[in-house]
Amino acid sequence: MIVNIEKIVYGGKGLGKLNSKTCFIPYVLPNEKVKINIKKDKKSFCEGYPLEILEKSEYRVNPECEYYTKCGGCDFQHISYEKQLDLKKEILEEALFRLGKIEKKVDKIIPSENPFYYRNRVQFKINNGEFGFFAPESNDVINIDSCKISHLKINEAIESLKKLSKNHKNIKEIHIFYPNTEKALLNIYLNEFEELDFQTIKENLPISINGAGIYLKNKRIKTFGKSFTFEKVGKYNFRISLDSFFQVNRFQIENILNEVLKEIEENKIVGDIFCGVGLFTIPVAKKSKKSFGVEINKSAVKDANYNLKINNIQNTKIFETSASKALDIISGYQPEILIFDPPRTGLYKDLINKVLNLKKLEKIVYVSCNPATASRDINLLADKFKLKKVKMIDMFPQTHHIESIFVLERI
Ligand SMILES: C[S@@+](CC[C@H](N)C(=O)[O-])C[C@H]1O[C@@H](n2cnc3c(N)ncnc32)[C@H](O)[C@@H]1O
Repeated sequence: MIVNIEKIVYGGKGLGKLNSKTCFIPYVLPNEKVKINIKKDKKSFCEGYPLEILEKSEYRVNPECEYYTKCGGCDFQHISYEKQLDLKKEILEEALFRLGKIEKKVDKIIPSENPFYYRNRVQFKINNGEFGFFAPESNDVINIDSCKISHLKINEAIESLKKLSKNHKNIKEIHIFYPNTEKALLNIYLNEFEELDFQTIKENLPISINGAGIYLKNKRIKTFGKSFTFEKVGKYNFRISLDSFFQVNRFQIENILNEVLKEIEENKIVGDIFCGVGLFTIPVAKKSKKSFGVEINKSAVKDANYNLKINNIQNTKIFETSASKALDIISGYQPEILIFDPPRTGLYKDLINKVLNLKKLEKIVYVSCNPATASRDINLLADKFKLKKVKMIDMFPQTHHIESIFVLERI
């Protein structure tokens, strides 16, 4: 079967028509003619797999990684980096149009200084002696010896992490976080309890680690060494613990912070909802009259409070609660600017309703890793807040994932 690819849709697949039925195919480009086989045939659409590219796009490049298409980590490596950014821009604008019901072009694109070796955090999976990543749309583990999107230092550690997992059959996952400025952290997940010797782990690794957490049933049951490390971003210092979130593209951390910071006017009352360890909260506090952060994760809240101290911030409070409850607790603050950086699910309807009732709120800076949920939320805010600016910051080169910053102002 032969399909002409019309465009790339959110999720990274190409869209083409097969006897007027919509067909989704991975690893293709717009205007390519592709020979496919059908993997899934549903009533209203089908899913295919490319067998041969009969007419190639000028933007097709040879993937750098030998595991490309076998490993599920990347799905844009066959596309030149410039074209990846173009496609993401189109997908973002289409999401805004279809789901946000708003015609708005992307105002600024911030590419990653290096589109490879950018990940500072990697989650290795282990199963049946294989060490690597899940295959596309599967939980089968694909064995790898290197990863082109991960920090070179993480690549250096792969061989010894593999050995560690061979010597301890109960290890099912190893996460590694390698910040720009300090030593690494390991999170080791077990199927069943097994003793591990930290000294041996440390001595066998070619990179320095600050500490390691051992997890059983997703609960940390033991900590070796320190439970945290540090990262310096611009002039700010951040403690990041084993169980806290931090931005994963090491070349874009300072850029995303600066893009948010530019939108915050001096001397305002500012709230940072979904604040993590305070990446935005702390620099924002320096230029605010008063500010607050909201975060549900205990570990991140502890880090954020610690980070307030080491960065000499006195005008800010961190609330450990869910975003949906936060706006009741902080009603005394009367925020003028709110920053949101939610997980992929976006905001919740009840949270948006509360936001709409904040009388003093002038501006919303919405950082999103999911154009679909962000567009939905922007539409729900549209009665009172107009989308003024869209910036796309590429946090995830070689993959279809899109990160953007939306700036909304009261009408
Ligand atoms: C995408 S991260 C952003 C963190 C921070 N802005 C940064 O750049 O490092 C989202 C954060 O939201 C937190 N979170 C998830 N669900 C939440 C909820 N319902 N209420 C409050 N925080 C939540 C997570 O723990 C995580 O720290």
